Amino acid sequence: MSDAAASVPALVINPLSELMAAEVVGLDLRQPLDLGTRDAVYQAFLDYQVLAFRDQDLTKDEQVAFTEQFGTLEKHAQRNQGTADHPLVHIVTNLDADGVPTGKVGSMRWHTDKSFRPKPSMATILHALILPPEGGDTVFANMYAAYEALPATEKEELDGVGVVHSWELSRDNIGRTISEWEKRDAPPMTHPLARPHPDTGRKALFMGMHASHLEGMPMEDGRARILKLEAHSTQPQFLYRHHWKTGDVLMWDNRCLLHHADANFDAAVHPRVLHRTCLRGTATNF
Ligand code: OGA
Ligand code: MN
Repeated sequence: MSDAAASVPALVINPLSELMAAEVVGLDLRQPLDLGTRDAVYQAFLDYQVLAFRDQDLTKDEQVAFTEQFGTLEKHAQRNQGTADHPLVHIVTNLDADGVPTGKVGSMRWHTDKSFRPKPSMATILHALILPPEGGDTVFANMYAAYEALPATEKEELDGVGVVHSWELSRDNIGRTISEWEKRDAPPMTHPLARPHPDTGRKALFMGMHASHLEGMPMEDGRARILKLEAHSTQPQFLYRHHWKTGDVLMWDNRCLLHHADANFDAAVHPRVLHRTCLRGTATNF
């Protein structure tokens, strides 16, 4: 920890589960963080992977300003629902343009954000504005823990293996054909399957719904291996389920987690609306 961080009072942190996730108490995210606090929040982010800041009331600009304190904002190039007034804030919603619940919930499969990019997302920040009376959770799988729980021989086997992430395949799997422009914009991208976290050095399995196949292995075998690893990684002991409260700001580390939305509410009746910002990560060399 830097001297600056050492001189600030420690953050008040309440862990939300034994494995990961913590509430950070007492910060008003509308205010800029002093550098020591910023560093302490980032350290907590590395330590807990998911941070929850309760009772926040941020405008889109304030959410962008909070996000930018931790890195470079990712623009949302594709299917930008409701972003006309603010290109940097993506609206996660089950409402149609007239504000009527559609019954549809996005992001229901295990994934890590923008894993098909050369520099996959470092963090995603969601601010809960409108929630159903119950449910509409987001579930996280800890890919450090999942990797570390593999037998030593399997870890060795996975060392140096490249996993190809493909936006085209990922959309195909949910019955959507992407445009030629989207194909050019997001060509398949290879990352280490056991990917070292750039800040902690710990390896985490890097896969999810955008993961297509493994390099140097027949397509079907690679797919089967990815699905087997996903089944392993999403066992209950590796999970944290976030029960949202209105005003929550959740910030999670895409480099060591998978996540998905749980449609455990009546999405044809109840609105669920969150504002989303995303921070760009880094490329990983083999
Ligand atoms: C996302 C996402 C899950 C949710 O915003 O990247 O996957 O619960 N959201 O809405
Ligand atoms: Mn997501």
